[in-house]
Amino acid sequence: MKLGVSQSYLSMELPWVKFLLWALLLLVQIHKHIACIEDERMGLLELKAFLKSKTNHTKPLLPTWVNDTKSECCSWEQVKCNTTTGYVIKLTLSSINQEQNYENPWYINMSLFQPFKELRNLDLSDNKIAGWLVNEESNCLSKMSKLAHLNLSFNRFDKEILRFLGALPVLKSLDLSYNFMEGPLSSHESNCLSKMSKLAHLNLSWNRFDKEILRFLGALPVLKSLDLSYNSMEGPLSSHELVNLNNLEVLILQENGLNGSLPFKDMANFSSLKILDLSENSFTGSIPPYIGALSSLKALSLYSNQLIGTLPSQGKNLL
Ligand SMILES: *[C@@H]1O[C@H](CO)[C@@H](O)[C@H](O)[C@H]1NC(C)=O
Ligand SMILES: *[C@@H]1O[C@H](CO)[C@@H](O)[C@H](O)[C@H]1NC(C)=O
Ligand SMILES: *[C@@H]1O[C@H](CO)[C@@H](O)[C@H](O)[C@H]1NC(C)=O
Ligand SMILES: *[C@@H]1O[C@H](CO)[C@@H](O)[C@H](O)[C@H]1NC(C)=O
Ligand SMILES: *[C@@H]1O[C@H](CO)[C@@H](O)[C@H](O)[C@H]1NC(C)=O
Ligand SMILES: *[C@@H]1O[C@H](CO)[C@@H](O)[C@H](O)[C@H]1NC(C)=O
Ligand SMILES: *[C@@H]1O[C@H](CO)[C@@H](O)[C@H](O)[C@H]1NC(C)=O
Ligand SMILES: *[C@@H]1O[C@H](CO)[C@@H](O)[C@H](O)[C@H]1NC(C)=O
Repeated sequence: MKLGVSQSYLSMELPWVKFLLWALLLLVQIHKHIACIEDERMGLLELKAFLKSKTNHTKPLLPTWVNDTKSECCSWEQVKCNTTTGYVIKLTLSSINQEQNYENPWYINMSLFQPFKELRNLDLSDNKIAGWLVNEESNCLSKMSKLAHLNLSFNRFDKEILRFLGALPVLKSLDLSYNFMEGPLSSHESNCLSKMSKLAHLNLSWNRFDKEILRFLGALPVLKSLDLSYNSMEGPLSSHELVNLNNLEVLILQENGLNGSLPFKDMANFSSLKILDLSENSFTGSIPPYIGALSSLKALSLYSNQLIGTLPSQGKNLL
């Protein structure tokens, strides 16, 4: 009420005061909307210096990231801030390293991400990173308490990375496709893996896991989508491996060495499964009628196996 009265008073008596106030308010708003946090600005510059020292590139690296107080870091390339708070929420640092060969391993220092307390989305894909350096005592990764989406695909990570990923409390999606990961997992690594209690989307395609990994992944309580295509899983798929994976919506096991009969009997309680890809394996025999139990199934791929016969009538609507 009071504000309305004083505003109308101002607009009647002193229109320019009102105008000035609005202009000022607008300025403050604009400033508030785009201003980045000073600690984060410094953090980005340190990160750039580190990346520059560790990687090889043919064109200038992140040229908009300059040490100039007038330069607004929320408008820098590959940086996204929350427009209200100004905190960095997304960093897209894919294909920074243009090194052509795989003979020069480099390690990324994860302490450099500590300044970004609101970071939700980090893309480090396609950089030929061999691992990361962490200060064990400071346990720096767990400080990335908001990180929900992490893309580490097209790098050279091995399974040791799992020890650090387990400390990310709200990680929802993890892309580790095209890395150098293989089993068996140590008990410490599998224990860390099972701590990813929010992980819903996991891409492990193009690694070298055998089918034992499935049992460890069964410990992930909210896993919905799993891609293990182009790995080294051999032999038959049984209830032993599939136990606890029955909440999956997407399961992609394309191009492995799986054989024996199709595992639909052991998947009878996979009632949420929408997409199943078992193509390019060595499954034999006919398509069992149990497929009818997969009530949510929308897409099924079985090409390039040694199967005979046709889909049972319950499964016909899938084609
Ligand atoms: C940025 O410039 C300031 C002032 O010139 C300097 O103190 C600081 O060390 C520089 N920071 C980086 C990361 O280059
Ligand atoms: C960059 O190239 C130099 C020279 O070929 C090499 O010594 C160095 O290890 C490379 N760095 C990375 C990160 O590949
Ligand atoms: C930005 O931050 C505000 C306040 O914390 C939050 O309510 C909003 O959802 C955030 N927006 C984005 C896009 O993260
Ligand atoms: C990583 O970076 C932090 C902060 O810049 C530094 O204190 C630490 O010594 C670095 N760790 C390694 C192993 O280089
Ligand atoms: C991760 O990065 C790769 C390469 O940059 C990209 O193809 C892929 O779609 C990304 N993954 C996700 C889940 O966004
Ligand atoms: C997993 O990653 C591979 C390679 O990056 C990609 O082709 C595939 O579409 C991804 N799978 C899912 C389910 O997104
Ligand atoms: C299935 O694959 C395993 C491992 O490659 C092999 O030892 C076994 O003989 C195969 N079984 C059949 C029936 O082909
Ligand atoms: C699903 O079926 C498997 C074997 O048929 C069983 O071991 C498992 O406990 C079942 N899971 C649920 C949640 O009923």
